[in-house]
Amino acid sequence: MEKVFISRRIPNRAIETLKSAGLEVKVWGSAIPPTQEELAEHTALADALICMLSDNINKDFLLKNKHLKVITNYAVGFNNIDIGAATELGIPIGNTPDVLSEATADHAFTLMLAVARKILDSNRSIGEGKWKNWEPMGFLGQDLRGRTLGIVGMGRIGQEFSRLCHQAFGMKILYFSNTAKPEIDKKFGAKKVDFDELLAQSDVISVHTSLNEGTKGIFDKKAFRQMKKSAIFINTARGEIHQEADLIEALSAGEIWGAGLDVSNPEPMSSESPLLTLPNAIVTPHIASATIDTRANMAFIAAQNVIKGLKNEKLLGFVNPIVHTKV
Ligand code: GLV
Ligand code: GLV
Repeated sequence: MEKVFISRRIPNRAIETLKSAGLEVKVWGSAIPPTQEELAEHTALADALICMLSDNINKDFLLKNKHLKVITNYAVGFNNIDIGAATELGIPIGNTPDVLSEATADHAFTLMLAVARKILDSNRSIGEGKWKNWEPMGFLGQDLRGRTLGIVGMGRIGQEFSRLCHQAFGMKILYFSNTAKPEIDKKFGAKKVDFDELLAQSDVISVHTSLNEGTKGIFDKKAFRQMKKSAIFINTARGEIHQEADLIEALSAGEIWGAGLDVSNPEPMSSESPLLTLPNAIVTPHIASATIDTRANMAFIAAQNVIKGLKNEKLLGFVNPIVHTKV
């Protein structure tokens, strides 16, 4: 019987799907992730691995585990896996795209509104005993109707977030992306611009790109200074795309108006981070895809990736399909 190791507990839909395909499933049961050594101990005995975005699947790990017939991330992003090394070793790498685009866009939308309307800071003020009167000038937020949205990375998630903002608030859409998306331009009146123009023109900037050498740290001191003082920064992609110290400085100095983050740099965020007490920041602990249905669907795709990978078939979410065309 072929064996699958899953590095954290995920919805049962994965386990049921794998078992009904005749596979033996072993799940890391602890809430604390396995160390690199513990992970390797289990993968040594496995034919396939379902790993988390917090697992470091580097070249060294891959060299020691080149017997694995398939590895799939329980995530759409895969910056935690050395794809080049996996491809060289001929190991198919899977991810879980599409099924989480809506949940992630919804979460970005939630953060945008929460920052625009000072939801967290105003809520905190009640517990601090500061709600004495109705305040005609208290907690004045921002309207979003007709404002300009700047998207960094117009992939599936960026497109879904654009659709929400365009349909809800008639927002004008600018985007920074490697590729032009004429169908999106047509649908939402979107316009591809360079990074400097996006920074200068947008009222809300939302990050939906993958983390790679081209996007690492692009939101730095200089970028935040180029943004409007009234701008809202949203990041539901990867924390390393912004420089956290520069973001804290920009928020503290009022260089931008607010930020909503579902990802941090580093992750997990320290409980001492100033971002948790700044009145104009809202942070959630990397939960954008965390809905019951979405996580069950991600579990299903990850399981299917394993089943297909073991049969040497194309994965549903296939990061390095070149390994398939090679065989
Ligand atoms: C979450 O961040 C993912 O990449 O799925
Ligand atoms: C980006 O993360 C995408 O899914 O397109």
